[in-house]
Amino acid sequence: MIHGLKIGILNGGGDCAGLNAVTRAVVRKSEQFGYEVVGIRHGWAGLLNLDTVPLTWRDVSGIIGQGGTILHTTRTNPFKRKDGPQAVLANVGKLGLDALIAVGGEDTLSVAAKLSTMGLKVVGVPKTIDNDIVGTDVTFGFDSAVNVTVEAIDRIQTTGESHDRIMLVEVMGRHAGWIAAYAGIASGANLVLVPEEPVDLEEVAAFLKKRHASGATASIVVVGEGCTLKDYPAGDTTKTDEFGHARLGGIGDFLARELEKRVGIETRAVVLGHVVRGGGPSGFDRILATRLAVAAVERVKDGKFGVLVCVHGNAISDAPLDRILGKTKNLDKETLSMAKDFSL
Ligand code: F6P
Repeated sequence: MIHGLKIGILNGGGDCAGLNAVTRAVVRKSEQFGYEVVGIRHGWAGLLNLDTVPLTWRDVSGIIGQGGTILHTTRTNPFKRKDGPQAVLANVGKLGLDALIAVGGEDTLSVAAKLSTMGLKVVGVPKTIDNDIVGTDVTFGFDSAVNVTVEAIDRIQTTGESHDRIMLVEVMGRHAGWIAAYAGIASGANLVLVPEEPVDLEEVAAFLKKRHASGATASIVVVGEGCTLKDYPAGDTTKTDEFGHARLGGIGDFLARELEKRVGIETRAVVLGHVVRGGGPSGFDRILATRLAVAAVERVKDGKFGVLVCVHGNAISDAPLDRILGKTKNLDKETLSMAKDFSL
C-alpha cells in the first residue's frame, strides 16, 4: 500500500446534487489507501486564496444525501486573473498536494485540462445538471434534476387543467435540452422546446390552437432556458460570468405573453430555475457520484493524470481531459425525435 499522498478536491461551477457524495467517497477511498484529503473551498478561488479545509472520515459523515456542496463553489476562472494559473500551481506546491481532483462541468474541467498541460497532476470528475459534458454518457446531478422537474410538471399539470390554461415551464440546462427533453417526455408534456432547434413562435402557436380546437382544455409546454427564437435575446449579455456565459432565463415569460396573444387562451409561465438544482441527490446520482469518486482516487493511486473519469454504457472508464475542451454534448437524435413524437 502506498502511504502519504495528499489529495486536494474542489468543486467548480454551478452546484448540483451529488457533489457531497463525491467528496465523501473521495475522502473514504483515500483513507483506505492511507492518503490525506484537503478540501479546497469555493472552486478555483480556493487555490488562488489558499482557502482550504482538512477532510477526514468524520467530516464527511452523513453528507451523502445532502444537496449543495460543503466545499462551496464559484465560477472563478484562474486564466482570467493576472498570473492566475501560475498562482494556482504555486499554491498547490505550498499546500503540498500530490494531486488534485477537480469536480466540475465543462468550464472547471477546461481549466483543469489547461493546468494539466502546465504540470498539474489532476483528475477530472464530471458533474452538472445539464448533462452536456462530452466524453461521458451521463453526469451526476442530471437524474436528480430530472426527477425534481418531473414532479414539478406533474403538479403544474393539475393546476393548469383545473384552470384551463396553457402552462409554460422553463427549465435550466443551458444550451443543451437534456433536462427539458427527459422531464418533458417523462411527465407527458404536450410540447417540448429544446435549444438544439430554434423555436418558431408561429408554429408553436398553430400547434396549440389546433390542440385546443380539437378539444384539449389545458396544455403543458416545456421550454429549455437556452432556446432561441427570432426577436428574443439569447440571454443577458450584461451579466456574463468569468467563462463568458450570458445569464439565461426569461424565455418562458416571453413565450407565455406572445402565445396568449396568438392562441387566445390564458397562458402562464413557471420558471423552475434553481429549484431543480437544489436538494439532495437521487439514489442513482449517489451511486454514480460514489463510483466516479472511487475511480478518481484509483487514478491518483495509479499516477494516471490529465484524465476525466467517465461512464460508457454502465462501465466507469477514463478519457483524456482535453477531449472536453470547448465542446457541448447536445441531445442525441433519438431523444430529440422521441420528444417530438410525443408532442400532441
Ligand atoms: O450549468 C448549470 C446551470 O444550472 C445551468 O443550467 C444554468 O444556466 C446555470 O447553471 C445557472 O447558473 P447560476 O446559478 O450561476 O446563475
